[in-house]
Amino acid sequence: MRGTVLIAGAAATLAAAGFISYRYISNAGRYIIPVVTSIKNISELDKSDPGLDKIDAHKALLTTKEYELLKSLVACGQGHLFSHWQAPGIGDGDKRRQVAQLMALHGSYHGGITAYISNAKKLLQDSKEGKNPFEGYTPKVPHGERLDFASAEYLQLEEAGLREAGRSAFVLVAGGLGERLGYSGIKVALPAENASGTCFLELYIQYILALQVRSGASQPLPLTIMTSDDTHARTEELLTKNSYFGMKAGQITLIKQEKVACLTDNEAHLALDPQDPFLIQTKPHGHGDVHALLHSSGLASKWKETGLKWVCFFQDTNALVFRALIAALAVSAKHDYDMNSLAVPRKAKEAIGAISLLEHRDGSTLTINVEYNQLDPLLRATINKEGDVNDTTGWSPFPGNINQLVLKLDSYVQQLSRTGGVISEFVNPKYKDSTKTVFKSSTRLECMMQDYPKALPQGSKVGFTTINQVWASYSPVKNSPADALAKFKEGNPTHSATSGEMDIYRCNCLTLKSLTGMEMPEVIGSVAYNGIEVEDYPKVVLSPRFAPLLKDIQEKIALGSIRLAPGAVLILDGPDISVKGPLTIDGALVVRSVLGSKVSIGRLDVKNAGWEWRALEEGQADATEEERIRGFRVIQKETKEYEFKQPGVCAIASPMLYKQS
Ligand code: UTP
Repeated sequence: MRGTVLIAGAAATLAAAGFISYRYISNAGRYIIPVVTSIKNISELDKSDPGLDKIDAHKALLTTKEYELLKSLVACGQGHLFSHWQAPGIGDGDKRRQVAQLMALHGSYHGGITAYISNAKKLLQDSKEGKNPFEGYTPKVPHGERLDFASAEYLQLEEAGLREAGRSAFVLVAGGLGERLGYSGIKVALPAENASGTCFLELYIQYILALQVRSGASQPLPLTIMTSDDTHARTEELLTKNSYFGMKAGQITLIKQEKVACLTDNEAHLALDPQDPFLIQTKPHGHGDVHALLHSSGLASKWKETGLKWVCFFQDTNALVFRALIAALAVSAKHDYDMNSLAVPRKAKEAIGAISLLEHRDGSTLTINVEYNQLDPLLRATINKEGDVNDTTGWSPFPGNINQLVLKLDSYVQQLSRTGGVISEFVNPKYKDSTKTVFKSSTRLECMMQDYPKALPQGSKVGFTTINQVWASYSPVKNSPADALAKFKEGNPTHSATSGEMDIYRCNCLTLKSLTGMEMPEVIGSVAYNGIEVEDYPKVVLSPRFAPLLKDIQEKIALGSIRLAPGAVLILDGPDISVKGPLTIDGALVVRSVLGSKVSIGRLDVKNAGWEWRALEEGQADATEEERIRGFRVIQKETKEYEFKQPGVCAIASPMLYKQS
């Protein structure tokens, strides 16, 4: 793929370099416990070890390295992987396929597959015994900032954050399966909203390009996308088909994470595929892989050498992230944070991780995401018998983690060279019953990118930036219509394709109202799609080309210049569009312009049949998958559209369009 560096199986580099694997990277990096990689020494193996006879019988089929690996697997109690092998000469192709997969799994895990098994045994044992990973810790509220979106302070922070954005690298983690959403494509290819049809990946790229221009960055701002086998080829295709959505050749790098082997029981036996006994079942290892890949690819060090200061991590389907990230960058700079997590207010016991400062009884501290089901018992056992409760503000004092992170490159690179970017793992088996001996389905080890501070040295600065208005910063697309409906009925955020789109319009309307006094219906009605009720705001899209920052909105749209009727559609997409008004829209208005085209919208009354977000009928046969997961189809009945494809100065005003040059 031209212009895009592809790095696959980068963790193999670690193994090849003799990198030690870590079972736990303990709190604050004080102790790093090397893994005991096998149960038996290979020299201790004897004929009674299941599977060994099969391996010995197939020595001629194997290279020395393969033979050694298979023997070490038998030493780890994995003889079942080979016990079904028939005599040499029968099914050798399948055996070779299985060995090749084992070698690949071995190469892509830090410390190799035997380390993986050993880590799994320990973590499965801890899980069975119900060990509390936070034993000895007392939770406190960590250091951080709580900001009101679009306040004067917020606008100032955005200004400062823009400078920092010009010295940032951006990392999109997009290797997830998206099982909960159940979409057959990749999530980043989904339209963020259907008014403009811009997909998530293009939206993110547009933001980065706009920030690059607006910050006067001295170099193209790099974007790295972590993919997996589930998403890699389709991400690559989406980029190449669309000429990287305007990024320069080489500005985007894909790093592919490898999957890890599944485990069938507490003894960490690797799972063979029930349909294919020569295939090991595999699953994603989690987004924590991103750190090891940024290390082994050399990207993080390269960014540091080229003078960049920050790395911003974000997820595949949160269209609002850049509205919050710029201010968070300013907060990072202000407090010199090594790690800054974007957060939202959370209600006590809400099913969202809480960023917490954990104080150990030995005096050490760790600021980290604590899952909601761990926080409550931890609080009960330490400082509050009531557990996780709201304070006088009506909210939990612990901010809700939305897993968008800003890391300081300086300390990040140091940390990567110290740990190889290996992140502490966990296991989450679903047991059949309380004996915790049988799993409902195979499990695997996982790691999460937000666990990065676990290995940071004491004294590192870890904080948070809460945006007090959730609607302005977080609305991911994660759940299928059925799951989203269940969440809606429980009164929880649905995090569905429906809410993801509607929240963009809501955010744009509320932002325009607060910054420019835009008039819109006093009462916003609600509408139901897929059974999920959402507020029916006018459909406003402000592209990153038009307004990457709130300041742009303030400067480009005159106070009180816009009035929207119920159901109005307004799309502004161009770097130099301004609205002087009065602009009234009862229908749909789309204005697009290229770089160099200065467009001024004066007095303009738009009245047409507009667009309709029409709910799908039950089982509507002609609905696309993208429409089905949202529950509506957009019908464009009538549009007033202005598109300026050439540089020049233009004024739009009713009833005429003046082109001045
Ligand atoms: P999600 O929590 O949304 O999980 O991941 P998911 O794996 O995509 O979806 P489910 O759980 O199967 O429904 C948060 C972010 O982390 C990325 C996802 O692509 C998303 O941007 N991710 C997740 C990875 O990059 N790799 C992984 O192994 C897992």
